[in-house]
Amino acid sequence: MMGRMDGAQHGGSDPRLRPIGVFDSGVGGLTVLQELLVWLPREDFVYLGDTARFPYGERSREELERFSVEIAEELLRRRAKLLVVACNAATSAALPCLTERMRETTLGIDVLGVVRPEALRAVAATRSGRIGLLATPTTVASGAYERAVAAVDPHVTLRAVPCPTLASIIQEGRQFDAQVVGFVRELCAPLRRECVDTVILGCTHYPLIAPMLQRILGPEVTLVSSGAALARQVEHALSARDLANSRTDEQEGQSRFLCTGEIDSFRELGTRFLQMPLGEVEQVQPAAAGALA
Ligand code: DGL
Repeated sequence: MMGRMDGAQHGGSDPRLRPIGVFDSGVGGLTVLQELLVWLPREDFVYLGDTARFPYGERSREELERFSVEIAEELLRRRAKLLVVACNAATSAALPCLTERMRETTLGIDVLGVVRPEALRAVAATRSGRIGLLATPTTVASGAYERAVAAVDPHVTLRAVPCPTLASIIQEGRQFDAQVVGFVRELCAPLRRECVDTVILGCTHYPLIAPMLQRILGPEVTLVSSGAALARQVEHALSARDLANSRTDEQEGQSRFLCTGEIDSFRELGTRFLQMPLGEVEQVQPAAAGALA
């Protein structure tokens, strides 16, 4: 069993040079990584897609807490200086547990999730006070968005639509044929009926089908995703702890990619979605939680 990780185990070097850890159940979190790459180009990233245990969107809170802690520990072993939970299901089920766990390890590692930044953006964007939410069944059932929206503005209403299998359709790289478009149209129907003017994409896979959603929902609807707002939060968290990478403007950071399942399909899909070569992808088996205790 590994001991507690401290500065020395992180390599003993400048902590600002350590990477930012990002994870999701699969390729959806790449939509968050994309924004992090835009806004924090000097940082290094280590991204883990838990593809062997995908999908997360219909799993229990207990499972997601366990998976999230296991992955966080794997990313800390890779010297992550901050963790981004780039998965709405994991954020809504496991963020408090993960934050607590990181506090217990006394690493002072910040853990940032995707729900709150989206809720803030959506409340700022709505004119009518009627917001829609498309998310996995686990995320909808958690009530995390209702709480986050109500915390910002209790007078805004949220119409949540659970979308079983939609993340799988995206992750499997299925053709967007008439059947898929018809399915997405049905999912959006309640939001159209209730005339929401803002829709939260409450699964990090969904920005990958933003063009289809915008066509179906109409031009007057604002789609809200978490990436850009979360990138700002990461920027603030790093500078508050003096952890921002001090590379000069000309030097870009590097990203490393890990997955728990099959490597080739992850690399192929990831390269397509991120529109850049992922390089060597490493397969990992996160150890059972508790390795850092
Ligand atoms: N990308 C994940 C999310 O944001 C979930 C997809 C899944 O694993 O079901 O919720």
